[in-house]
Amino acid sequence: MKTAIVTGITGQDGSFLAELLLEKQYKVIGLVRRSSMEDKKFFNIEHLLNNKNFILENGDLTDSSSIWRLVQKYKPEEFYNLAAQSHVGASFTSPESTFEINSTGVLNCLESIRNINPQTRFYQASTSEMFGDNMNAPQSETSIFSPVSPYACGKLAAHSLVVNYRKAYGLFACSGILFNHESERRGEQFVTRKITKAAARIKLGLQKELRLGNLDAKRDWGYAKEYVEAMWLMLQRDTPDDYVIGTGKTYTISDFITCVSEIAGYNLMDYVIVDESFKRPSEVPLLQANPAKARNILKWNPKTDLKELAKIMYQYDLEKEKKYVK
Ligand code: NAP
Ligand code: GDD
Repeated sequence: MKTAIVTGITGQDGSFLAELLLEKQYKVIGLVRRSSMEDKKFFNIEHLLNNKNFILENGDLTDSSSIWRLVQKYKPEEFYNLAAQSHVGASFTSPESTFEINSTGVLNCLESIRNINPQTRFYQASTSEMFGDNMNAPQSETSIFSPVSPYACGKLAAHSLVVNYRKAYGLFACSGILFNHESERRGEQFVTRKITKAAARIKLGLQKELRLGNLDAKRDWGYAKEYVEAMWLMLQRDTPDDYVIGTGKTYTISDFITCVSEIAGYNLMDYVIVDESFKRPSEVPLLQANPAKARNILKWNPKTDLKELAKIMYQYDLEKEKKYVK
């Protein structure tokens, strides 16, 4: 039985990856940090808590001793680092802690593997945000990085460390440069989930308006459950490498609202108010993946299109919000 450490286990991707690895008969060790809302933090992984191959360990990515202890204790075959301060907008208000988690945190993982168990295969959650304001789309592994947020700067530092540890120390370290991926487990402050939740609440008479920032930015949105398969595939190759993962299609935030409107059966745009406070000091205007390398080498292909994705999310939110109707 293989053992995998997964950081960010309580998040969207961590929970889907844990399910995938358990299905593949792995022992999954999830890193969790203390929360003031202890009863709510396991929402995405509640259904896994009784699985004997699913073990949670306390720690924090920025606390190197907790990472070293974990690698020492389990000497895992695979280590997936998904933990991050993952909200781009929030990185402008908390740049230091974001940078610390998203870059030094990764260094802690790499150093623990290099010193304790160099045969551990490492996956880093890199991001299309690193392309920033590079308008040359579609973006591939060789496109120029031009980050425009503290979040993306931290992620680019981490990405460079992964490449460096692969070259300098021969670690089996891979970065997945993932474009936006969403699901019914997406955090409610990210734009797609904010939209599907509001659409459901407006439909049920629980909300009157939807305040959003920039509606013109373009994103390449896929379904998170499919993207964690790509992470696993990267670590099964003979040689480590970096891969762009995305659909190759790009849509504006307005397009997504139109899509949700069609599913919900009313014009959601009538309820949208553009609120400057949700706009960012600098914005990533256009993301569109060129996932040819992943298609050719990993044999990975996205299956869920934007409409299906919006439907999964909207229907989930509609059911969830019904309990608040009096
Ligand atoms: P998410 O839902 O926000 O989950 C982030 C996870 O990181 C949570 O489990 C969080 O734990 C954990 N975390 C944050 N700070 C930590 C710390 N200091 N120590 C330990 N754990 C910490 O994010 P996601 O959407 O699943 O994304 C997973 C990863 O992929 C992230 O690194 C993100 O930056 C990257 N990424 C995401 C996308 C996307 O579109 N989703 C695209 C490209 C890259 P708590 O529950 O305690 O907060
Ligand atoms: N969150 C949010 N809230 N975004 C809004 C809003 C709003 O009210 N209104 C407009 N937007 C715009 C943002 O300005 C951005 O252009 C776009 O919607 C998407 O925002 P998010 O859903 O917050 O995602 P993101 O693209 O900034 O970052 C996500 O994808 C990255 C990969 O490209 C996150 O998951 C990152 O962790 C990830 O690396």
